[in-house]
Amino acid sequence: MNAVAGAAPADIDAAVAALRAGELVAFPTETVYGLGADARNPAALRKIYALKGRPSTHPLILHLAAAAQLPQWVATVPPIATVLAERFWPGPLTLVLPRAPGVPDELTGGQDSVAVRVPSHPVAQALLTAFGGGIAAPSANRYGRVSPTHAEHVREEFPQGLLVLEGGPCAVGLESTIVSLLDASPRVLRPGAITRAQLEQFIGPVSSADAAGAVPRVPGSTVQHYAPQTPVSLLAPADLARALADAVARGERIAVMSRGESAVATTPTLHWQRMPDAAADYGQQLYATLRRLDKLGVSRILVERVPAGIEWDAIRDRLNRAAATFT
Ligand code: TXA
Ligand code: MG
Repeated sequence: MNAVAGAAPADIDAAVAALRAGELVAFPTETVYGLGADARNPAALRKIYALKGRPSTHPLILHLAAAAQLPQWVATVPPIATVLAERFWPGPLTLVLPRAPGVPDELTGGQDSVAVRVPSHPVAQALLTAFGGGIAAPSANRYGRVSPTHAEHVREEFPQGLLVLEGGPCAVGLESTIVSLLDASPRVLRPGAITRAQLEQFIGPVSSADAAGAVPRVPGSTVQHYAPQTPVSLLAPADLARALADAVARGERIAVMSRGESAVATTPTLHWQRMPDAAADYGQQLYATLRRLDKLGVSRILVERVPAGIEWDAIRDRLNRAAATFT
């Protein structure tokens, strides 16, 4: 595992020792950095909620080294789960399945189900393999804040001596796609890099949480989630041009996130952030960009709406949440 970016074997050993001692460890995954604890240790799991400031009813995601460990944690592995695991694991897909007896309530938020994924990041794989058991990990940010996609972001969120394994920038940059397999028809609870269309190629029709109208217990579905501290306004291109002209005329300090070039001359009060054209690149950079713009001291971040295509679903979802309290 020497090829692993950042974390050396000695770092992995230290992290495993910390997990066995009931301590928390932050580690990289291909989606975002996670704040990990031994998933069989209720006291360690409670430390996650305390450190994040997260309500204890909000369940965590269980990370495993391989799908072969599933029977230790879930009551049944439906054929559809096997199909998805074979196709998408290791990778940015989380499956919600009935939990096995003895799985701690602190992991599941007291629910009868457990959310599981097998991450592909080599540091996450090295850690899980060396630890041998399951690691519960939410995103390594304080509750309601933007998820970390660099080790540096984790240290910003938790400056007080948390062990953080280095793994470079996360390749996906947005949290995993969550699919519930509890009911007769599979349902996406949180959009991610793996789209509904990709899932449907292998398992047939998949509904979305929106379509079902139900509100599952997913913290990411509360309105204020993923928000930077600076107000975010999400605008169609024509509205953006107007809002921009007004703000510049007033001398208001603003930042703009757009896939296009600046239509106005750069001024000292305007920061124009050009975003990538392709959804995968945009998603990879979204959270790091929001963090950076949040530090500029601007009064607002104006974000140009992204295209309607399905590959933009996860980005649109996160942008809507970031903007929800302000527009
Ligand atoms: O990409 C990811 O999934 C990252 C990395 C670290 O793996 N983790 C992550 O964790 O995003 P967190 O805690 O920020 O989000 C976990 C989501 C929450 O929305 C939670 O409600 C949902 O998973 N979840 C967990 N268990 C569930 C369950 N039994 N039923 C429905 N949703 C569940
Ligand atoms: Mg989170």
